[in-house]
Amino acid sequence: MKNQIERHYSAFKGELSKIFGFQKDFIFLDLTLGDGGHTEEALEAGCRVISFDIDIEAIKRAIALVPDKYSPLIFEADNITIPAPKDFNWIIVHQNFSKVGETFEKLQLPKVDGIIVDLGPSQFQILSPDRGFSFNLDEPLDMRLTKDQGVTAADLLAVLNEGELSELFTLGDEPFAKPLARIIVKQRTINPIKTTKQLADLVYKVKKGRSGKIHPATQVFMALRMVVNLERENINLLLPQLPQLLKKDGQMGLISFHSGEDKLIKEFINNEHKKGDLSVINEKPIEPSTFELSISPRTRSAKLRIAKKNN
Ligand SMILES: C[S@@+](CC[C@H](N)C(=O)[O-])C[C@H]1O[C@@H](n2cnc3c(N)ncnc32)[C@H](O)[C@@H]1O
Repeated sequence: MKNQIERHYSAFKGELSKIFGFQKDFIFLDLTLGDGGHTEEALEAGCRVISFDIDIEAIKRAIALVPDKYSPLIFEADNITIPAPKDFNWIIVHQNFSKVGETFEKLQLPKVDGIIVDLGPSQFQILSPDRGFSFNLDEPLDMRLTKDQGVTAADLLAVLNEGELSELFTLGDEPFAKPLARIIVKQRTINPIKTTKQLADLVYKVKKGRSGKIHPATQVFMALRMVVNLERENINLLLPQLPQLLKKDGQMGLISFHSGEDKLIKEFINNEHKKGDLSVINEKPIEPSTFELSISPRTRSAKLRIAKKNN
């Protein structure tokens, strides 16, 4: 089943070269390797690439998907004892991007010409039958990007009180956050909510079925995923580290799929701009073209912000 999952469609695919002005030996940092689409685009353009992912399954899959002629050196972040070779072509680091600064120091990596961050899970993670991200599958409600993380989505539904659950669902912009929290607290005394199907059916019942194009459980599943994986916390830890990794005139591109994440990114870029450290390249986020949307409707909420290092 895993191997049958189509390759993740990389948002703004094919446009990185134009955005970053790739040249041979350009050093490119891809902090969200996923299925390796952005990394491959940079390698194909002659860049030397450093890729991070928190999910070892994603790393294994990316290695299989990217052409064999690009053979990566792989570093397990907690076991780094030697610096990376100076003449690397492609390095993969299994690490949370929130620790990128200290990992660069340990590996003695150079400053980079470009950085891409493409937030959220990949299609592989969502559609894998054992990960618990999908309301269309019946599987344990897990949602962890890495098994090192202790708390699953089912754990949160079992222990949070009604107010906390309502607050959590609001993070995903769920309009039925309060009634959903109430029914979950009631339901779990009779039968603990342990599977994606149980949760999806419950949401469907409370929201009285489907209205509009998206599945009624979309926001609830997104909110749980964000909290299980500490997504906002990781972004907040990551952003202030990025300017220090860039060379002068190097650029960072940040792709988000949720208004709350885009707000964090926008505020960060504007603050760095006021301090004089970054220039804003696009005042308004770049959105996918109609062509891209026709190939991958999932990218409909993608927003790309680009900023350049001043000194
Ligand atoms: C949307 S996918 C990236 C897709 C990729 N750009 C491509 O072209 O295939 C996001 C990836 O980032 C990884 N990720 C999410 N949060 C992370 C974190 N805090 N640290 C490192 N990787 C993370 C996920 O495991 C996932 O593989």
